[in-house]
Amino acid sequence: MSIPLRRGLALLLLAANTTWAADVEVLHYWTSGGEARSAAELKKTLQAKGVNWKDFAVAGGAGENAATALKARVIAGNPPTAAQVKGPAIQEWGREGVLANIDAVAQAEKWDSLLPPAIASIMKYKGSYVAAPINVHRVNWLWVNPAVLKKVGAKAPANFDEFFAAADKIKAAGLVAVAHGGQPWQDATLFESVALGIGGPEFYKKALVQLDPAALSGPQMLKTFETLGRIKTYIDRDAPGRDWNLATAMVINGKAGMQFMGDWAKGEFTAAGKKPGADFLCLPAPGTDKAFSFNVDSLLMFKVKDAKSQQVLASSLMSPEFQEQFNLNKGSIPVRAGVPKTRFDACALQSMLDMEAASKGGSFVPSLAHNMAVGSATQGAMMDVIARFMSTNLAPKDAVAALAKAARTR
Ligand code: BGC
Repeated sequence: MSIPLRRGLALLLLAANTTWAADVEVLHYWTSGGEARSAAELKKTLQAKGVNWKDFAVAGGAGENAATALKARVIAGNPPTAAQVKGPAIQEWGREGVLANIDAVAQAEKWDSLLPPAIASIMKYKGSYVAAPINVHRVNWLWVNPAVLKKVGAKAPANFDEFFAAADKIKAAGLVAVAHGGQPWQDATLFESVALGIGGPEFYKKALVQLDPAALSGPQMLKTFETLGRIKTYIDRDAPGRDWNLATAMVINGKAGMQFMGDWAKGEFTAAGKKPGADFLCLPAPGTDKAFSFNVDSLLMFKVKDAKSQQVLASSLMSPEFQEQFNLNKGSIPVRAGVPKTRFDACALQSMLDMEAASKGGSFVPSLAHNMAVGSATQGAMMDVIARFMSTNLAPKDAVAALAKAARTR
């Protein structure tokens, strides 16, 4: 999917927004229980600074629907102040000439010294900040209900053998072993954690970031699809179309034992009053304890008349107080330096340590499913193949060939 915009749109945009008010309109897809608590925090922060929040929420996990709504608004010459856009898509929007430059705020607040350089560069278009990052989500987690494990006599899995042993016991007890929603982005979230666990970070980077044809067609990719095929047999038949937070709810209420999902799932557990270690476990997805697949949420700034309110928004997003409270609710960890760690739970502290170790060890890898690894056209084509594999009887070797072909889409 490229972004189809008419020439000269930038001029049109400037002309279209004529009213001034201390308002920010933010397009986001934070609509589940835990996500809504996080979005409410942003609204509160802005209101305390005299800026009114115009909510533009578009439901749909991982923002597929939100991306469509955003394109329609920009094409109509009426972009929101900011939108939840991540990774390489920021460059795609930059090329359309519709973004605001927020360097004035970023320089005054020294963002370059507060952010990891790799993340700062994702936020910039041609060297200038156009987006503000809020957090680091880790994608390669397995969420587990320990009461279910206890009931069926299974132990917390650290590798695929233990994972399948636990899944067999949960299934034999008449429960759902793997809570999942059959939606392309959830399928891709599961796929990438399996690829990371089976092939390791070097394979992951070669195949899913550099799109190296040999890695895409090699034995580790075949084993990834074979393992995914095996995991499919532990997912219940009501999964197609199920929202991710409903799958998390199945783990919360003990109908299911485990879920592969990024740590926005933790926001659901904590919103339900559950405590890590006691009511739920956050385990690295099987075989991925040394790796960290990252997903950084950011708000992308569009050219609008009210640059002043937009700057207040950008500054608020990067403030330590906001990043602390937002991430406590969201399940992620702060992306900027200088946020106190004291109120974060064991899962977040593990994420912080693992991020540091993975960054040093070359195993900090961008998430494919969450728009961090490749451009949107390539990602869309690859996710279509993964979703087809999950919902049909496509053989692993045919899925490998189809994925390698899809990876050539630009
Ligand atoms: C976003 C998260 C969001 C999740 C589910 C991810 O791509 O980064 O902020 O909670 O999708 O919608």
